[in-house]
Amino acid sequence: MTPPKTPIAVLISGSGSNLQALIDGQQSGDLPIEIVAVISNRPEVRGLERARAAGITAITLDHKGFDSREAFDLALTEQLEQLQPKLVVLAGFMRILTPAFTNHFAGRMLNIHPSLLPKYQGLHTHQRALEAGDAEHGVTVHFVTAELDGGPAAIQAVVPVLDTDTADTLAARVQQQEHIIYPKAVRWFCEGRLTMAANRALLDGEPLPPSGYQVRHSQP
Ligand code: GAR
Repeated sequence: MTPPKTPIAVLISGSGSNLQALIDGQQSGDLPIEIVAVISNRPEVRGLERARAAGITAITLDHKGFDSREAFDLALTEQLEQLQPKLVVLAGFMRILTPAFTNHFAGRMLNIHPSLLPKYQGLHTHQRALEAGDAEHGVTVHFVTAELDGGPAAIQAVVPVLDTDTADTLAARVQQQEHIIYPKAVRWFCEGRLTMAANRALLDGEPLPPSGYQVRHSQP
């Protein structure tokens, strides 16, 4: 018997390559998900085209049309409540969220951030890892809490930093891993294996380490 598909909503602000990895998983049947909608806070981004091309409802909720962060987050909450997703997936959604929003979806909202959190919260993570002379860099999937890029980690992929790297080559190496670990985390959530309790991420009921489940990649 085919397992039931978990309804998920994906929030984006741009290119949507992580969204594409989820669409591919849905279409191939590898991921037990149904993307009920893709919502972008920026109009006419590539991710919206990717959604439409896959026959998925594509919604623009332009933050510029709102007077305050609170008003935008409230409208987003109302939109999501109509869609009734079991999981909200932030995939390059470049907004600081209000505590009211993050509390509302606590334990059922994931984000991907291109660094080995807690290192390099915020922007320009690849450049910062290079400037710090780090030997390793990577990406983290984490539950979203009120703390910016700070909720409990589910999975981290670690990649080497090469002497020849620029921010762009490093970003490309990290993004390859993003497209592997985000679908993995989503799958675990949909299968009921990945949960959050008392501000910890749990896999199969066992607390994960602060870095989450770590995947290491020694070859570029
Ligand atoms: C990804 O690299 C993701 O890790 C990053 O935005 C990019 C979106 O790419 N997210 C953040 O920086 C969140 N703080 P995509 O639109 O091609 O998926």
